[in-house]
Amino acid sequence: MSRKNIVVLVSGGGTNLQALIDAERRGDIPNGRITCVISSRSDAYALERARQNGIATRVLERKRYPDIAAYSAAMVEALQAERADLVVYAGFMTILDEQVVRAFPNCMMNVHPALIPSFCGKGYYGLRVHEAVLERGVKLTGATVHFVTEVCDGGPIILQSAVPVQDGDTPEILQRRVMEQCEWKLLPKAVALFCDGKIQVKNGRTYIQEG
Ligand code: GAR
Repeated sequence: MSRKNIVVLVSGGGTNLQALIDAERRGDIPNGRITCVISSRSDAYALERARQNGIATRVLERKRYPDIAAYSAAMVEALQAERADLVVYAGFMTILDEQVVRAFPNCMMNVHPALIPSFCGKGYYGLRVHEAVLERGVKLTGATVHFVTEVCDGGPIILQSAVPVQDGDTPEILQRRVMEQCEWKLLPKAVALFCDGKIQVKNGRTYIQEG
C-alpha cells in the first residue's frame, strides 16, 4: 500500500497537529505521511510546529478572498496541487463550502471537542464549546472525529470518547482534559485507520474494520 498524503488544515495553536506529527514519528501512522499544513491565519503557532518538523506550509487567509466560494475554490486548488489523499481539519476554524466536500468526498475529517450531536454546529468552536457544556451542566463530554460533509459537524462519525465534567471545572481546564484524554488520541487513531483503508462509509455511518 502506498503511503497516503495527509494535508492538515489549521487556524491556531496546533496541538492536534502536534499529536499527528508525534504519532507519525512513533510509527503509529505507517500508511500515511503529513505532507503539508495549510493555515487560515499567518500567525497560527501551528505553522511554527510544521516548520520545526520540516513539513511544507501554505497560508490561505480568509480575508484575502471576497467570499466563502472564492476561498473554497482556492482551497480545492491548493489541496489538489498537494495531491491530498486525506484532509484533516485540526482546529481549522473556517467553514468551507460544498465545492471542497465534492472534490474530497469522505476524504476529509474533523475533530470536534464535544460528543456530537451535542454542542456542535455553527457557533460551537474552541472554548465556546466547553463554556456551553459547563453552562448546561452535563456530566460527560468528550470529542468526536467525523467525516466532513456539507452539514457543519454533521458528517458520519468515525470515533468518539468521553471524559467526566468535574465540579470546579473552568472552560480552560475542561478543554485541556478533552484534548489530552480524547482529541490527541482519537485524531491520530482515526487518521491511521483511514490510511490503512479500514473505514467504510455506508448510508451516512461508518464501519471500522477491526484488527
Ligand atoms: C481543538 O479543541 C479542536 O477540537 C477545536 O479547536 C481546538 C484547536 O486546538 N476545533 C473546533 O472547535 C472546530 N469546530 P489546536 O489548534 O491546539 O489543535
